[in-house]
Amino acid sequence: MENKEIIELAFKAMENSYAPYSNFHVGACVACKDGRYFFGANIENASYGATNCGERSAIFAAYSNGVRKDDIEKLAIVSDGHRIAAPCGICRQVLSELLNPDTPIVLSTGEETVVTCMRELLPMTFGPEDLQ
Ligand code: THU
Repeated sequence: MENKEIIELAFKAMENSYAPYSNFHVGACVACKDGRYFFGANIENASYGATNCGERSAIFAAYSNGVRKDDIEKLAIVSDGHRIAAPCGICRQVLSELLNPDTPIVLSTGEETVVTCMRELLPMTFGPEDLQ
C-alpha cells in the first residue's frame, strides 16, 4: 500500500473525529497485509481524560476484529494541526505492544509526511516480556 493511499484513508477516517473540546481532529488507518483496513478517529469526552486518541481507536478496531501485529503492514496517522502530530505518550505505550517495532508508521498533515516506527518512537519499552 502506497503512503499516499493510506494517508487519504486516514483523512477519510478523520471525518468521524468527535472533538468538540479541542477542535483538534485526528484520523488513523491500519492497513493489513491481506488488504483489509481498519479506521479510527479521536473521540473526546466531557470528562477529558476519557478521550480516546485516533491511533488507539484504529489499532483497537483492528485487534477487536482479530488482527494481530504480524498481520499489519503499516499505520497512518493524520491530523488537521499546523504540524505533524506524533503519537502521545499513552499511544506510544499501547502501540509499542500492539505493533512490531519496525512496522512503518506514516505521519502526515497532507502537506508534510514523515515515516517512523515504534523502535524509533519508544525505545527501552516496558512490555509483556517484563512480566514473565
Ligand atoms: N490526539 C490524538 O488523537 N492522537 C495523538 O497522538 C495526540 C492527541 C487527540 C486527543 C484529543 O482528542 C486531541 O487530539 C487533542 O489532544
